[in-house]
Amino acid sequence: MTTEHILTDLSDRVFTLRLNRPDKKNALTQAMYVRMAEVLAQAEADPEVRVILITGAADCFSSGNDLQDFLKLPPASPDAPVLRFMRTLAQIQKPVIAAVNGPAVGVGTTLLFHADLAYAGESTRFALPFVNIGICPEYASTLLLPRMIGHVQAAELMMFGEPFTAAKALDARLINAVLPNDEVEAHARSRAVRLAQQPPNALRVTKRLLKHWTTEKVLEAIDHEADFFMAMLKQDEAREAIGAFMEKRKPDFSRFR
Ligand code: COA
Repeated sequence: MTTEHILTDLSDRVFTLRLNRPDKKNALTQAMYVRMAEVLAQAEADPEVRVILITGAADCFSSGNDLQDFLKLPPASPDAPVLRFMRTLAQIQKPVIAAVNGPAVGVGTTLLFHADLAYAGESTRFALPFVNIGICPEYASTLLLPRMIGHVQAAELMMFGEPFTAAKALDARLINAVLPNDEVEAHARSRAVRLAQQPPNALRVTKRLLKHWTTEKVLEAIDHEADFFMAMLKQDEAREAIGAFMEKRKPDFSRFR
């Protein structure tokens, strides 16, 4: 199992999970999902860990699911690594903070809906281009995003799949703050260290209560969306879109109905 693409660190009782696949803009492979689920479960069980910080590189959070993996190793069952990762993060009881910058595409945006706090650099470009690649949104985002920003705003981001700025994300209340690029990680870390000094049980109970009202629905949405998502990956629209990305050309959807 390749693990150098996921780096971890524990200091000041803050566990950091860092995406580290710079040559592919931190595109997430099946092996990375397996490792992320593993280290998140370890962090959850480790009494030394009080807060989890998820981040990427200074200039790129993640380009989303690896598109080549989508063709070669598509998720095919409820036990697929991507779904295991999603459920694990969605059910973590310790506070989770995300620090992002540069591209935050697909699951690189939807995973933020499962963090408790999210900070973004000025150059962050969020995007939900699921439709653009012939599939549908995932990670309970069809449940959570409309709740956060309303149906018409969610539909615009999901149907066009256009990138949007950190300023727009803050305006839509998807993140806590926009910071200068070179300060975002340090700021997120200082908030994490501060949180790690709060009474841990009170924090855990507060998070449990905040999530209590939606957790079951979120788990149901993850599986329901995946039923569509997994089937759509095998269909022509996705094959055309992903093939076009690989071949560095524009996709042509004119023949589909
Ligand atoms: N899966 C696999 N490889 C990816 C990838 C992905 N999701 N995103 C980027 N890469 C690869 C590129 O193919 C390229 O590889 P190469 O150097 O071997 O040609 C390398 O990473 C750099 O990407 P590039 O597109 O040149 O970088 P950029 O800075 O111009 O653009 C993005 C960055 C993220 C905006 C752009 O790569 C992109 O749109 N990626 C696809 C995002 C996507 O659709 N994700 C799935 C969402 S569901």
